[in-house]
Amino acid sequence: MKIKGSIALVTGASSGIGEATAKRLATAGYKVYGTSRRGAQSGQRSFAMLPLDVTRDESVEAAVKSSFAWKAASTCS
Ligand SMILES: NC(=O)c1ccc[n+]([C@@H]2O[C@H](COP(=O)([O-])OP(=O)(O)OC[C@H]3O[C@@H](n4cnc5c(N)ncnc54)[C@H](OP(=O)(O)O)[C@@H]3O)[C@@H](O)[C@H]2O)c1
Repeated sequence: MKIKGSIALVTGASSGIGEATAKRLATAGYKVYGTSRRGAQSGQRSFAMLPLDVTRDESVEAAVKSSFAWKAASTCS
């Protein structure tokens, strides 16, 4: 299984189960984008945080676009 360079988008990552999952995936080598409504305002973590409200389609699309933008940038460099 290829992990290096893979992206994991984890919802509800500012606390609880989502935060623990995001930490584990980051430790395993994934580029992790944790998400929650508060995004980076929820505090500093060992993975990137993006704002995402799962009840709003446009919010989900924006977070997914941000994740793929990183993938495109890292593939070009
Ligand atoms: N803990 C358990 O033992 C357990 C067992 C079975 C099922 N569950 C279920 O699993 C889920 C997570 O549990 P948890 O204990 O990890 O809860 P938690 O610590 O309260 O975490 C919930 C996470 O979801 C985010 N969130 C809430 N509403 C959101 C929305 N509309 N869009 C995006 N993110 C949102 C919160 O961040 P923001 O407030 O920043 O958005 C937070 O990061 C819950 O549905 C819970 O009922 C938990």
